[in-house]
Parts: sequence; C-alpha cells; structure tokens
Amino acid sequence: MTYLVTGATGGLGGYALEYLKKLVPTSEIIALVRNEEKAATLKEQGITVRVGDYGDTESLKAAFTGVDRLLFISGAPGNRQAEHSNVVNEAKEAGVSFIAYTSFANANNVDNMLSTDHQFTEQLIERSGIDHTFLRNNWYLENETPLLKAALHSGELDSSAGDATVGWALKREYGEAAARVLSGQQDNPSIVELSGQPHTYTQLAEALSQASSKAITARDLDDQAFIEAVKGQGLPESAANGILGIQHLIKAGDLVVESKDFEEVLGHPLTSLEDGLKEILDL
Ligand SMILES: NC(=O)c1ccc[n+]([C@@H]2O[C@H](COP(=O)([O-])OP(=O)(O)OC[C@H]3O[C@@H](n4cnc5c(N)ncnc54)[C@H](OP(=O)(O)O)[C@@H]3O)[C@@H](O)[C@H]2O)c1
Repeated sequence: MTYLVTGATGGLGGYALEYLKKLVPTSEIIALVRNEEKAATLKEQGITVRVGDYGDTESLKAAFTGVDRLLFISGAPGNRQAEHSNVVNEAKEAGVSFIAYTSFANANNVDNMLSTDHQFTEQLIERSGIDHTFLRNNWYLENETPLLKAALHSGELDSSAGDATVGWALKREYGEAAARVLSGQQDNPSIVELSGQPHTYTQLAEALSQASSKAITARDLDDQAFIEAVKGQGLPESAANGILGIQHLIKAGDLVVESKDFEEVLGHPLTSLEDGLKEILDL
C-alpha cells in the first residue's frame, strides 16, 4: 500500500505525516511538496518526497504514479477550483483508490467565501467515483493566536461574532484525524464533521483567563471598531479585513456544528479549550 500526503511542508500536512508514521510503515509514505528544499527533514525521516504543484498537471501525473491512498490537503484560496480539478483528475488517471479531502465544516449547508471551493471539490470527488472521506474541518484554535495574544496584554478578547459558536480544535488534532482516516485502519463514513465542542468568544475568553490566570473578558465590537482594534494590534488593513470576513461567517453560524465524529475518528477525547490554549500560547 502507498499513502501520499499533499501539503506535506505545511502545518496540517506535517502533523498528518507525524501521526501516519505511527500507523503505517514509513517506506509506504510519500510526501508531495512544492519546494524540495523545505522537505529536507521529511527525507531525513525516510519519507519519499515527490515534487508537484496543483497547478501543474504533469507534475501531478508523475507524483501520483503508484499511489493507493491520497490525503488531499486543500490549497490556498485564489485559483483553487482549477487546481483542485487537476488533483482529482490526475488522481483518477493514476488509479488512486481513496481520497481523504480536507473540506470545510458543514460544507453542503453553508455559503461563504471559504465554503464555495470546498463544495466544488467535494462534488468533483463524488463525480470521480473514487472512494473518499471528506474531512470537514472546523476552525483551528491556532487561527485565533493574534487575538489571543492581544487579549493577554489588554485583558480584552476582541471579536465581532456575537454569541455564535465555533468548533475550535488544535491543528495537530485535525492532522491526527486525517492520518487515521488515510491509514484505512478503521471504517469511516464518507463525510466526517471534525468539530470540537461549540464555544463562543465569551467562553474562549473565560478559558484564556483560566489558562493564563489573568482577568480577561470578551469584547464584542461592531465591524468598524473591530477593524480599528485589530489594526491597533499591528495588523495591516488587508489582514484586518480578512479576519473580519471570518468573523462574519462565524456570526452567521457557519461554524456551528454538533458532532461526535471527531472523537470517534480519533478514538480518544479532544483536548479541552483551556489545555489547547496553554499548548499554543506556551502558558
Ligand atoms: N480549518 C481551518 O481553520 C483552516 C485555516 C486555514 C487554512 N485552512 C485550509 O487548510 C489547508 C491546510 O492548512 P495548513 O494550516 O496546513 O496550511 P499551510 O501551512 O499554509 O499549508 C498548506 C500547504 O499546501 C501547499 N500548497 C498550497 N498550494 C499548493 C499548490 N498549488 N500545489 C501544491 N501544494 C500547495 C503548501 O505548500 P508550501 O509549503 O510550498 O507553501 C503547504 O504545504 C490550507 O491550505 C487551507 O486550504 C483551514
């Protein structure tokens, strides 16, 4: 059996490889990377490295040769639909028998700036006829790091998402789930909603207080005040607008998912919010 992980020099791909090595022989693992120099440590671990880009079909053709099971990590927004089409088409051509694809929480029921590409890709994979599991990832807790670090200084955790909930979990936990599904060692449904316990920003502020032993309260701001607050934390306007866009989709309830899938895939409980914060913020 051969297992190929795309996005192998990225955060999620790196974690997935770490866990996959515990589940299958390293000699059967292939990493797809864009930049071979970034993959030096993967090679040192005995992982076969192949170079390819979602935008370059010839490179994918070569990279997918002889691959049985594929962990397809979504690329960056931009030209994603064309790039993802290349990946699925070349996987089909190469005879890949299974794809685990990192999708978006509740992808078929929401419509936002991130979900469209994931809906598109899920449909592509379905139409390809390749056996699959959609890993519908909720939000990485790590995404909140700038707001959390600012809160540790100011005592206020800013958001603009009202009392909507998010299913935060650690990136390494999404990586572990992806590796377990890719390994094929357990039966998995074709869709898994990988969401942590739903929490509001108020609850996140409470967990940060506990984790840091500092008094921290949540501050729900209107859009303009949120932009000003984030810029005041040193982020440029474009980044502040990007974060506001995410706050809007959270406020709309797009990351509200109640599911036990994550812990069922992992076979153990998720890290608590408080412990997750200690881990990512070194508290
Ligand atoms: N659920 C969430 O909270 C959340 C948040 C952010 C992003 N995401 C999505 O989840 C994915 C994985 O997250 P991450 O944190 O691991 O992101 P990351 O660290 O940016 O890693 C993305 C990986 O994809 C590779 N990649 C990007 N475009 C590619 C292309 N055209 N061809 C081949 N490889 C390509 C990158 O290669 P290089 O190493 O060469 O750059 C990198 O290895 C992201 O790409 C994004 O689609 C999810």
